[in-house]
Order: sequence, then C-alpha cells, then structure tokens
Amino acid sequence: MKIKEVGLEMTRGEFVKSLGISVGAIMATWCIGGLTSCMNADMPAPGDGGVDFTIDLEASENKALLTNGGWLIKNSVVIARTNSGDYVAVTQVCSHEGRKQVAYRASKNDFYCNAHGATYSISGKGTNSAGSRGLTRYTTQLDKNSLRVFG
Ligand code: FES
Repeated sequence: MKIKEVGLEMTRGEFVKSLGISVGAIMATWCIGGLTSCMNADMPAPGDGGVDFTIDLEASENKALLTNGGWLIKNSVVIARTNSGDYVAVTQVCSHEGRKQVAYRASKNDFYCNAHGATYSISGKGTNSAGSRGLTRYTTQLDKNSLRVFG
C-alpha cells in the first residue's frame, strides 16, 4: 500500500518509520521537559518542595543530632549537626550516578559518597569532579526540640 499526496509518496514502512522517529522525539522532549518523570521515584527532585518533615530531637532514635558531628538519615535526607553545631540537610542521593550513599563526614565537616568518592561541602556544593553537580540542600528550622527539614 502506498500513501499518496500531492507531490509526496511513501510506503507503509516508510510511514511507520517516520512515526517511530517522531514518537522518540516526543518522548525525549517529554523526559527533558518534565525531568521528574524520568527520575528514580526515591530521588527528591531539586526544589520540588517534596521534602517536609519534622524530627523530634528528644526521641532516642534521633539522639545523634544532639552532638556536634552527629548525623542520621531520614526519608532519603542526610541530616547532620556540624562540628560548629549548625543543622544541615541534603539529599542522600548522590548527583554523580544517583546512588543513595551520601553520608556526613565529621572528620572533614563535609558530605561524601563512598560509591566513587564524590565530595560536597556543607552547603552541598561539589568539591571534586565526581561531585561537581552538587547536592540538593534543604532548609532546617529548629524550634525547641523539633527540627523541621523542608524544601
Ligand atoms: S554515585 Fe556517588 S560518587 Fe558515584
């Protein structure tokens, strides 16, 4: 079967082939435009406002946050009390290859991914080539014994 228009003629195979390219182009555009659709569901998207929880600092499971240099992971977020006593929170998902292996390093007062050695400053900025894309940092807000993490 041939599809014929004024000045244009193509076989069914050529027609289907042309659709395949168009569908691929549409999918690529959709994925780039709506990046969250193509990301791991556990991966908080930067600035998507999807993180908002509160930690009870009096609860025994959160006692690490009562000491400078202590840290824990909750809801795929690394929350640390830095050596200077400030609370900081970043995504646990490494920007290098997306592994959930980011941890706080009190000895260097930074964040580190042990998968391939990405390093990040306390502000989430990448400090070596593997960490060059940085980490999403969340806002922390202390109210008596409650620490809110959001962003
Ligand atoms: S995934 Fe973290 S350094 Fe590669």
